[in-house]
Amino acid sequence: MKKESTGQIFQQRLKKHHDELRWLYMELYDNSSMFAELCSNMKDFFNARDNGLKEQDSTREAHPDWYKQNDMLGMMFYIDNFAGNIQGVASRLDYLETCKVNYIHLMPFLDTPEGRSDGGYAVSDFRKVQEKLGTMEDLRDLTASCHKRGINVCMDFVMNHTSEDHAWARLARQGDGEYMSRYFFFKDSMIPSAYETTVPQVFPTTAPGNFTWLPDIGHYVMTSFYPYQWDLDYKNPRVFNEMMYNFLYLANQGIDIMRIDAVPYIWKELYTQCRNLPQVHTIIRMMRMISEIVCPGILLLGEVVMEPEKVVPYFGTVEKPECHMLYNVTTMATTWHTVATRDVRLLKQQLDIVNSLPKEYVFLNYLRCHDDIGWGLDYNALKANGMEERSHKQYLNDYFQGHAGCSNSRGELYNADPITGDARFCGTTASMCGIEKAGFEQDNAAMDLAIQLDVMLHAYMFMQSGIPILYSGDEIGQVNDYTYKEDPRKAADSRYIHRGAMDWELAGQISDPSTVQGKLFQQLSQLEDLRKKEKAFVSYADAFTIETGEPSILCIARAIDGEKIIGIFNFSEQNKTAWIQETDGAYVDMLSGREQEASNVGLPPYGFLYLKRKDKKYETV
Ligand code: GLC
Repeated sequence: MKKESTGQIFQQRLKKHHDELRWLYMELYDNSSMFAELCSNMKDFFNARDNGLKEQDSTREAHPDWYKQNDMLGMMFYIDNFAGNIQGVASRLDYLETCKVNYIHLMPFLDTPEGRSDGGYAVSDFRKVQEKLGTMEDLRDLTASCHKRGINVCMDFVMNHTSEDHAWARLARQGDGEYMSRYFFFKDSMIPSAYETTVPQVFPTTAPGNFTWLPDIGHYVMTSFYPYQWDLDYKNPRVFNEMMYNFLYLANQGIDIMRIDAVPYIWKELYTQCRNLPQVHTIIRMMRMISEIVCPGILLLGEVVMEPEKVVPYFGTVEKPECHMLYNVTTMATTWHTVATRDVRLLKQQLDIVNSLPKEYVFLNYLRCHDDIGWGLDYNALKANGMEERSHKQYLNDYFQGHAGCSNSRGELYNADPITGDARFCGTTASMCGIEKAGFEQDNAAMDLAIQLDVMLHAYMFMQSGIPILYSGDEIGQVNDYTYKEDPRKAADSRYIHRGAMDWELAGQISDPSTVQGKLFQQLSQLEDLRKKEKAFVSYADAFTIETGEPSILCIARAIDGEKIIGIFNFSEQNKTAWIQETDGAYVDMLSGREQEASNVGLPPYGFLYLKRKDKKYETV
């Protein structure tokens, strides 16, 4: 691309967003010179952007729905666990292709103090890769190799806080007012105590409270997460501008998807919960415009671990969008509730809510990720079924620890709060499905059932609208890793139970159908192929649930352009029948190719079926 023409592109993009961006910026900061500085830096980052990335930007701009098709499959992993370092990841791209993955989320890899890292979410330098993982150049090489294979790269942008070792924090700690003003400092406990009256705690057990006393400088600093993660004060335009420069710098390394960490927390106001405040939306909207001006090929993925009514506003509106994608977190938690209760009612309601949202919205669907499962369910709805929040959470935690309700799951509690009685849960998909227990007990029948549950859950997850994300190791059924208990830097944080290193020896068995890995991998592979082949899996297809008359069976239908597929999932370990009557034509079992009717369908324990209507039908509305 010629320089003049790319310069024009920048001006056109800036022109499109300038007035709204300026308006929002002035509303928040009322500082026109800082706004001018932002614009001039955006231009510099645009100019510094690689030509190949600029071309990709233009292609994606011309096809804004590029990520809403049925070809996307993600996988998330820690670089060291997966392949040692960034170059190691580059050498494993063939494996990722075998997994049919075309989107990788590299878990936090920026500089972070060893032992005070929160799994990398305490960043001490936004422009430096952790030495043990490699360099920025390695990252650029990796993104370039990924792009050659059509693989998108996602990274975390941890903007709510920095590590206490970040240069700003060090200067602040020396009493430099300019840097202290980038965080929340208080010389006595008066204001911190006032905040504590309304702000909930993120880590009530592992890091209680929202402030940390720094005896060396006689001040409190706000630390919503761990004491070494200092919250940034976005009321200061310097913080916003500098963090946007970091964002653009990282974007220019060839990143395709920015996962904005802990979004709801980034704006604080006294006497509020300091969550989801309107200014957060202003900031995310500005970020969207900034990225559309400088690097429109990038997608913003918001990490909003909240109940649905608080999650959805982060998409913004169709005219003024914020995040491109959000995690389908309530559906994930409700899925595990369904596993523990064998009762699909709440899940059906939850899917109906998600399915009724505008089709522009793209959710990331997942079974497990690097974090714990918080039991954020719709307890009002559960009440109608006679379930009460506290006792039900207790049941779920007991169940998944393997203590109650005919459970084969294994795992551990996380942040059990003795005061509220609340606790979250940690474990891998495989362990939660019973693979760990069956392996330990060398029980082949139990193993087959556990694999069946694991595959069924993935099949159901693939039926949801959006992009499915696999948690690395799940494709080979990796179980909990208890070695974190021996590492004093990790022992207190049970999330490390599901952050074990990839077992490449086990991964070597994926083509052997007699092994657990082979059984799991090959069945998932088949489903992934189907998902990429059938148009009805695009994220904007019509999706709806069908009543099955059987409390343990969920049925999801997807339809587009006269095509229709249905997925039927048995969440119980018994034979069950889905009492459905889809009489709109003959259906074909998509896996076996056999024709069958979509009425009164029997399913074995944890069985599932993908059915496709044989003929196209264009319903007239
Ligand atoms: C996000 C991350 C989590 C981390 C927290 C603080 O929620 O997923 O792992 O502890 O942010 O940065």
